Amino acid sequence: MAQILGALCSSHVPAIGRAMAKNLQQDPYWKPFFDGWPPVHRWLADKRPDVAVVFYNDHGLNFFLDKLPTFAIGAAPQYTSADEGWGIPQVAPFRGDEDLSWHLINQLVAEDFDLTTCQEMLVDHAMTNPMHLMYPDERWAVRIVPIAINTVQFPLPSARRCWALGDAVGRAVRSWQSDAKVMFLGTGGLSHQLDGERAGFMNKDFDLAFMESLIHDPQWATQFNTHQLVEKAGTQGVELIMWLAARAALGDGATLAHQNYHIPISNTASGVMLMDAR
Ligand code: DHB
Ligand code: FE
Repeated sequence: MAQILGALCSSHVPAIGRAMAKNLQQDPYWKPFFDGWPPVHRWLADKRPDVAVVFYNDHGLNFFLDKLPTFAIGAAPQYTSADEGWGIPQVAPFRGDEDLSWHLINQLVAEDFDLTTCQEMLVDHAMTNPMHLMYPDERWAVRIVPIAINTVQFPLPSARRCWALGDAVGRAVRSWQSDAKVMFLGTGGLSHQLDGERAGFMNKDFDLAFMESLIHDPQWATQFNTHQLVEKAGTQGVELIMWLAARAALGDGATLAHQNYHIPISNTASGVMLMDAR
């Protein structure tokens, strides 16, 4: 049976990719953010995951308003990153794990989740930046299974539904006949709003309460509907549903291995949180 190691949740702000390309990790603006990552690097070196199941949101690259699935899953041998004009350099393609992809598809559809199955998939900064932060040398040490959750076109799936999706993914991984070591990755957030009158909005109190809840009361955020989440975390802050799905996939218990929170990175309150499976 596959072994679940833990979950890593991280912001994916495009400017991170540009900062890494320009080697700005020690720059005073960036240092408090990048200082949050060495504990993650030590964890990865110690645990050596084989596969990462990645909950992320596409920002209009692979899916656009003409066709926008609520939930989509990759079942491709590899995933190509495409530049979106944020000044992020191209990174090497990511290796997929088709066996795990199809296992998840079979299990999830059997549990009545309607997933769009993608045998080709372009991925954007929501995939490339967290992976680049995990593996700064750009040699991806994990195969990936991307799961895209719609945060672009309303109506969005509720936090409650994303918890249920993550929970089902976690149970499906546990039933995968493999000796692989699996981790979950949730990318996005934390609070930010890029548009409208509240552009630049961040909410430190809410973010810290949300991070704390993932350990002590992990379904806390499922009490909020999408509009309440937008109110509390900002229009793009709803990306925190990726963190929720990744936490749900861990199952009953999780212990905090590391966290860092820093305001601002670009227009975003940035967070990183590493949880060990129990
Ligand atoms: C920013 C944050 C995001 O999550 C994103 O997808 C794009 C931009 C930002 O703060 O600049
Ligand atoms: Fe985003």
